[in-house]
Amino acid sequence: MSETNRPKPQFDRHDLWQKDRDHHIHPFTHFPSFEKDGALVIARGEGAYVYDADGKRYMDGIAGIWCVNVGHGNREIADRIGEQARRLAFFNTFVDVTNPPAAELAAKLADLAPSHLNRVFFDTGGSAANDSTVRAIHHYFNRLGMPGKKQLISRIDAYHGSTYLAMALTGKAEDHQGFDLPEGLVHYVSCPNPYRRPEGTTLDAYCDQLVTELEEKILEVGPENLAAFFAEPIMGAGGVVVPPPGYHRRTQEVCRRYDVLYVSDEVVTAFGRLGQMFSSEATFGLEPDVITCAKGLTSGYVPLGASLFSDQIYDVIREPAPDQETFSHGFTYSGHPVSCAAALANIEIIERDGICEHVREVGPYFEKRLATLENLPLVGNVRGSHFMLCVESVADKRTKELLPESIEIGKRISDHCERRGLIVRPIGHLNVISPPLILTRDQIDELVDILGASIQATADDLVRERLWS
Ligand SMILES: Cc1ncc(COP(=O)(O)O)c(C=O)c1O
Repeated sequence: MSETNRPKPQFDRHDLWQKDRDHHIHPFTHFPSFEKDGALVIARGEGAYVYDADGKRYMDGIAGIWCVNVGHGNREIADRIGEQARRLAFFNTFVDVTNPPAAELAAKLADLAPSHLNRVFFDTGGSAANDSTVRAIHHYFNRLGMPGKKQLISRIDAYHGSTYLAMALTGKAEDHQGFDLPEGLVHYVSCPNPYRRPEGTTLDAYCDQLVTELEEKILEVGPENLAAFFAEPIMGAGGVVVPPPGYHRRTQEVCRRYDVLYVSDEVVTAFGRLGQMFSSEATFGLEPDVITCAKGLTSGYVPLGASLFSDQIYDVIREPAPDQETFSHGFTYSGHPVSCAAALANIEIIERDGICEHVREVGPYFEKRLATLENLPLVGNVRGSHFMLCVESVADKRTKELLPESIEIGKRISDHCERRGLIVRPIGHLNVISPPLILTRDQIDELVDILGASIQATADDLVRERLWS
């Protein structure tokens, strides 16, 4: 083909890279490396893979970022988004207006959620869902004549989002650095991480300690001052932490005893990632007062979040009060018709294609294959469940001592993966794996093989650079 006939590349990678570096403030940017290296331009996606602006293919080991559950490039969702945008792109849902997808989706979520959660408030994402939940719970206790019950309990290393309230609920100290938090609103209890439990403590004894700690925290703050406990069923960004058996049920019992509401943040765990539409009840035996969700709700095709409230909470907030008849909370885009249409299409696909069943079937294989990486000298722990997994690197397997932060071990590993055509997420000394839920066994093998080779290559680099032996 002559030069003049050659098709022009669809994207000018350098131009995009430059514009982005010069003008785009990214979420959670590490400015020194961003200024130096800019960003990888991901331009296209298909199934379990994405392609950069040069056309290089990567397996998407993180489903966008815990989102793209049904995989990339799904025509059905794209068509439903297009159809809805042509029919009715937007109208508000304030007060007494609705639209067909919002009404259908609210009913569908009530049907899928535990039986006492029947009232759905639509948000624009996971942070907003947690934020709305805090506001609604505060309103609930005001309505009950208990205005003192406002404070919240969360866990160290929890991630609940990035609005002011959601970041206050977040328990990752590094995410608070250089920002302010509402004083005295949120109290934190320990991260329930079995790998990091005190030496010589059994899992049962560890669980006892965690439950006692929560009860003591409630008594210290005073149940009369506490509104709710927020918890992810499995902590995501905090390090894919699966609590010891019985932890959820027992922490909920403690909350009930002191009239503290239980909010289950299922922004990551809902819509199939653990093999269930919602995992709170189905996997962990919880009966939360509120479930928040987002991400996999639309498989990330368009933004949407939701807070699913219990009948008990709804029955209180719907009662007109003498001084206030309106629930004064909501967003322009609450119940956005295009987002709700995308969610309905996405849920139809998850149900029709048996995606939860697939995750339940191949999830244990994924866990087992990934666990083989614990044989590598750099890997201290492989953990997680089904399609929510993580590898923790350590300097010393026996003492579990970490490598110095300056080594940026997670980033080194993910850079090696990227060169080999796999995207995994570095978080400090961790690498998180949360791919689309459509991965086949062969693709799981491909992912684990590339990750294993990348960890080994990183270990070789460290030895060569005399940073580790
Ligand atoms: C458990 C959890 N809750 C809330 C959020 C915030 O969601 P969003 O980024 O959509 O606001 C996230 C995001 O990763 C999350 O993992």
